[in-house]
Amino acid sequence: MPSTRVVDFYDRHPIDEGQILDALRRRGVEPAQARPDDLFDLDQDHYGGPAAVQALARRAAVGPASRVLDVCAGLAGPARFLAATIGCRVVGLELHPGRAAAARRLTRLVGLEKQVAVTQGDATALPFGAGAFDACISEEGLLHVPDKAAVLAECHRVLRPGGRLAFTDWVALPRLADRERTRLWEWMAATTLQTSDGYRARLGRAGFGAIAVEDLSHEWRPVLAARLQMYRALAPATIARFGERWHREYTDVYAFFVALVEAGKLGGARFSATR
Ligand SMILES: C[S@@+](CC[C@H](N)C(=O)[O-])C[C@H]1O[C@@H](n2cnc3c(N)ncnc32)[C@H](O)[C@@H]1O
Repeated sequence: MPSTRVVDFYDRHPIDEGQILDALRRRGVEPAQARPDDLFDLDQDHYGGPAAVQALARRAAVGPASRVLDVCAGLAGPARFLAATIGCRVVGLELHPGRAAAARRLTRLVGLEKQVAVTQGDATALPFGAGAFDACISEEGLLHVPDKAAVLAECHRVLRPGGRLAFTDWVALPRLADRERTRLWEWMAATTLQTSDGYRARLGRAGFGAIAVEDLSHEWRPVLAARLQMYRALAPATIARFGERWHREYTDVYAFFVALVEAGKLGGARFSATR
């Protein structure tokens, strides 16, 4: 069962459809005239933006003919980026009903609805048939899913033999304390954080081979510092929508998260493997 905490957290996320459309207008782009690339630096809710999605797509061997599943797709920014730049078809699977609906609207807005479909559902019970995809990707989504083994088993099931899985996620480092894990759960809906070795073992148990792990912690540090600045700069819009208290709580916990990465207690990694 997915936690309502995840839905609560994304109910009041500073980046949402309204904020993206406002940002377009501030740049002088009428949403109705927007092209896919107008959204690329606005709709990605992970660390590293389009370059990180490109890196993931290379690990997942995504090509123009690939059928791609993006697990925990958010507003489908990565899905649209892949569809627009590579030409593949992408299905985004997103738990939060409001974000899944917004993802569909943004996709229609930029005319990519023939290539990108968004399904609302839970990553631990993928509503797709066995072997339906050539590639599965995910960016900073599994941190919210309590049963990581179930997600990996589901990705294995929906990939064709020889299909590729590539994802990025937070990884726990040895000095991450229980009370810090608790705060990450209570305030950011982050749960059952794995070590890199833990993920490697789970991927093996799910049946994957050719498992590769790349440490991204160093790369993430400046990216996360910039994201914290971005959330602080969004203060007027966040306060207008969710109130001053929520904005302060959000930026406080984000600063706490960034400090954990700076302190070497929490990191990031890219995992890839073959079905
Ligand atoms: C940090 S966002 C990343 C979104 C997207 N991957 C991106 O990079 O823009 C994590 C997303 O995972 C979704 N999510 C969390 N738990 C999920 C689950 N069990 N099944 C599907 N999606 C989930 C959240 O609702 C959220 O939209």
